[in-house]
Amino acid sequence: MNARLPVLAVLLVSALGLPGAETRVETLALRETRQSSWAVPRENLAAGGGPLRVGHATYARGFGTVGGSRLELELDGRARALRAQTGVDDTAGALAAASFLVVGDGRVLYRGPWQQGGGPAVTVEVPLAGVRRLALVVDVRGEPFAPADWIGPVVDHDGAPPRAVPPEIRREPPPPRPVPAVPQFAVTAIAGVRPGHPWLWRVGVTAPGPVDVTVAGLPPGLGFDPATRVISGRAPATPGEYRLGFRASGSGGTATRDFRLVVGETLALTPPMGWCSWYSMSGKVSDAWVREAAAALLRTGLADRGWTSVNIDDFWMTRPGPDDARLARLAALERLGRVAGYYKAAMDDPALRGEPRDAQGRIRPNARFPDMAGLTGFLHARGLRAGLYSSPGVLTCGGCTGSFGHEAEDAARFAEWGFDYLKYDWCSYSLETGPLERADWQRPFARMGAALRAQPRDLVFNLCQYGRAAVWEWGPAVDAQTWRVSDDLIDTWGSISAAGFYGEERDAFTGPGRWNDLDQLMVGRIGWDRRLHDVQLAPDEQRTQFALWCLRGSPLLLAGDPTALDEFAVALLGNEEALAVNQDPAGRPARRVVLDVAREAWIRPLADGAVAVGIFNRDEEPAPVTVAWSQLGLATPARVRDLWRHAAVAAGANWTGTVPRHGVEFLRLDPVSLP
Ligand code: GLA
Repeated sequence: MNARLPVLAVLLVSALGLPGAETRVETLALRETRQSSWAVPRENLAAGGGPLRVGHATYARGFGTVGGSRLELELDGRARALRAQTGVDDTAGALAAASFLVVGDGRVLYRGPWQQGGGPAVTVEVPLAGVRRLALVVDVRGEPFAPADWIGPVVDHDGAPPRAVPPEIRREPPPPRPVPAVPQFAVTAIAGVRPGHPWLWRVGVTAPGPVDVTVAGLPPGLGFDPATRVISGRAPATPGEYRLGFRASGSGGTATRDFRLVVGETLALTPPMGWCSWYSMSGKVSDAWVREAAAALLRTGLADRGWTSVNIDDFWMTRPGPDDARLARLAALERLGRVAGYYKAAMDDPALRGEPRDAQGRIRPNARFPDMAGLTGFLHARGLRAGLYSSPGVLTCGGCTGSFGHEAEDAARFAEWGFDYLKYDWCSYSLETGPLERADWQRPFARMGAALRAQPRDLVFNLCQYGRAAVWEWGPAVDAQTWRVSDDLIDTWGSISAAGFYGEERDAFTGPGRWNDLDQLMVGRIGWDRRLHDVQLAPDEQRTQFALWCLRGSPLLLAGDPTALDEFAVALLGNEEALAVNQDPAGRPARRVVLDVAREAWIRPLADGAVAVGIFNRDEEPAPVTVAWSQLGLATPARVRDLWRHAAVAAGANWTGTVPRHGVEFLRLDPVSLP
């Protein structure tokens, strides 16, 4: 017999599969798992890196996940069954609960019970006949980053072995929507400015053809340029409310808008809206790229919908070389470790080298930013606002120059350059301080807040310390207007749901001039150093994130590269009826009503007596839902409007419909009497 035959037979069998074979899931490409964090599950280990432990028993095989997670396997229809045990890992916090789901070709084949931390493992056996796409899903509650374990998961198959593959995401074009003939103003109708400070406003208008725009009621010191539609100049020195009248006339008709300019101490009367460079340009952000982004906000029409902040994140300053001792200590910190691969690219980047400060101690931009004042001038000329980034540490999160010990000089420099916003990101400040009490968390922010406050122009102050020490309680006391309440988002369902469906008790602290920043909107195309990919979120998942951010009054900062937005993204971000919920002048907090374990409603009362309601379906399948308005504490409305379809829906005592998987029905009820 030919000696090669057995080898060929083995090759053939492993390619085609063998009747009765089994494949251990933890041996597959676990990097295809999408979960709440950047971490990748590892074979036979729990999420924290320890052994798999459930119900105080240790298991040799399987894999641990963190937060909501999903691993998709491609099958050939000849798999027989999935066998596994499941459980919340013993390292989970007391509130953690997880339900394990097995989804085949979009249908839930198995829905596990809600398992609590410390409870015993549950045995699962799911027939898979005919299934071609299998998803192993973990849904979590209580603790958004709960560790949960698939123990000994095995696929029995007669055909080819399963393959771990990237999740399938069906993209969809937006429903066609003609540009309304009558001009529409951007929805924001109120802004705050400090007495005597410069003020800049783009009067955003959307219309199918040419329009004439006028502005009435401007106090002395402010002027309007009809060619650029930008109001600029200096606010009155006397505090008070100034009522402006915007008017836009085109061939399709005339629109008017009452706008209130509130001269006083409160900035960011509505959540800031714009774009941030981090998720698309990251370590290679440059003056030229920022201008491209700004031009795209204008070209897509988003600037005229209110997306006017252009925020430069980390990496505009210089960065020490790889032998810098402090950089090495920073790299050892947990936060940096998670993205070490990415930050390493910056190590060898000669464009980032250079002295951190000039002879007068003033912070220096790197070679990619030759003219900061020129850049803010470019933005301001178009009615866009300029945002910048720094850290209270010696180094920023990315290892570039931070403001430690130079807060007053840096605040003065940022103002002199013409910036309107500062994100101040904790990171390496941990190296400057001991054990962290609340006062230690506050100190560096209070220092920069006071320095910004002393400038002759307004800089909106965004705290970035990932929601530690109940920042929402004291943000205003350090002169901040917005503060991040979580770690960095990634473009997974687990990540956006951990931020969006969580922490509603903090919303009571929000209002005009004080906003919880839920982090950036995962819409469009993102990727380190502009190596872009489509966000790994289905259209309904992107709608869910957007609706939650609107309802919860989060700043709206687009993560996607504005030059690479498709029609879906532009339509979503340009949805003026949804934006009006976010920019509502009353700035009241939303409240949540849990309908059942996978369905919830978020309700936000609006300034004009209407109420915005999002009905969310967190499940893996579309769900028929009936909600009685009384269940949400609302009276029967006179009118109900569907904010996705821009159409009236039947008003009655209930809403009945099918909410898509991971989707949301976004409605406006008008008018109702509030309880
Ligand atoms: C942290 C922040 C991010 C981003 C990076 C920049 O991770 O949370 O939003 O600013 O630093 O290095």
